[in-house]
Amino acid sequence: MRTGHQVDRGGGGSGRNVGTVGADRVVADSSDWDGARYDRLADPQARWGRTVLDRLQLTGSETVLDAGCGSGRVTEQLMRRLPSGRIVAVDASPSMLAQARHRLGRDHRVRFVEADLLGLDRAALGTDAPVDAVFSTATFHWIVDHDRLFDNLADLLRPGGQLVAQCGAEGNIDGVIRAVRSLGGERAGTWLYPTAEETAVRLRRSGFVDVRVWTHPEPTPFAAAGPLADFLEAVCLRQHLATLAPAERRLFAQLVAAAMPQPVIDYVRLNIVARRAKR
Ligand SMILES: C[S@@+](CC[C@H](N)C(=O)[O-])C[C@H]1O[C@@H](n2cnc3c(N)ncnc32)[C@H](O)[C@@H]1O
Repeated sequence: MRTGHQVDRGGGGSGRNVGTVGADRVVADSSDWDGARYDRLADPQARWGRTVLDRLQLTGSETVLDAGCGSGRVTEQLMRRLPSGRIVAVDASPSMLAQARHRLGRDHRVRFVEADLLGLDRAALGTDAPVDAVFSTATFHWIVDHDRLFDNLADLLRPGGQLVAQCGAEGNIDGVIRAVRSLGGERAGTWLYPTAEETAVRLRRSGFVDVRVWTHPEPTPFAAAGPLADFLEAVCLRQHLATLAPAERRLFAQLVAAAMPQPVIDYVRLNIVARRAKR
C-alpha cells in the first residue's frame, strides 16, 4: 500500500486532524459521491440530523440554507419544520443533488443549488438571500478551509441569523484511520477535524456571536463486518478508495473492517450553535 503526504490547507492546528492526500494515483471520479448509495446507507447521519435540527429555533416561516444537503434525508426532516418557510438545498455533488431532488420532489419551498460552499454567493440564492439560518450536518469536515467557510456563511446570513451545524471533531474516526495504517497505508483524501476551541475562535473572527461549540463521542455500531465495510466504502473511505484500482476497492474496505476490533465507528462530533452579529 502506498502512503500519502500531509497537507494543511485550513490552518487547523495539529497535523493529525488534517487529511492526507494520496501521493500517486488519484482517479478522475474521486470527487463525486454515489447519491443513491449514500441515501440507502446514511441511517447514522439521519439520526444525528434529528438531534441537530432540534437546536434550530424556528417559527415555521423562515428561509434556511441546508449547507451540504447530500441526498436530502435530513433536508426532508427540516421541511417538516418549515410549513410556510423555504429551504435552499446546496451541495457540490451532482449525484447527491439528483438524489435530493428525487427524494424531495417538486416542492415549491425548495431551491436546489449545485455549488461549492466556499464560493457560494448571495446571487446564487436569488430572492432567498439573505437567509434566516444556516443548517449543516456531516459536511464541514470535508471542507478544509473553515476560515473562508465561516466568512462565506456569515455573508449569506441576515444579521442575527442562526448557524446550527454538526461535523467531525478532533479524534473523529481515529479507529478507522488506525485500521488503515495497520494495513501499511495512510487514509487518502482531505478533511479537517478541528477542536471546539479552534472552531469558536474562527467563528468569532468571522463575525459570529453567542457562539457555543462542543464535542461529544458518537460510537456508531454496525450489525457485522459486512455492513461496516459497505459503509466505509461509501462514506469514510470514499476518497481513499478512489485512489485504488476499482477491483481493489471492495477488498480494501473489507480488510479495514476486519482490522477494526469491533464493528463500531468511533465518531466524534463537533456541535456549533451561533448567530451572525446584528450590525
Ligand atoms: C456525508 S454528506 C452529508 C449530507 C447530509 N447533510 C447528511 O447529513 O446526510 C456530505 C455532503 O457534503 C457535500 N460537500 C462536501 N464538500 C462540499 C463543498 N465544499 N461544498 C458543498 N458541498 C460539499 C458532499 O457533496 C456531500 O453531499
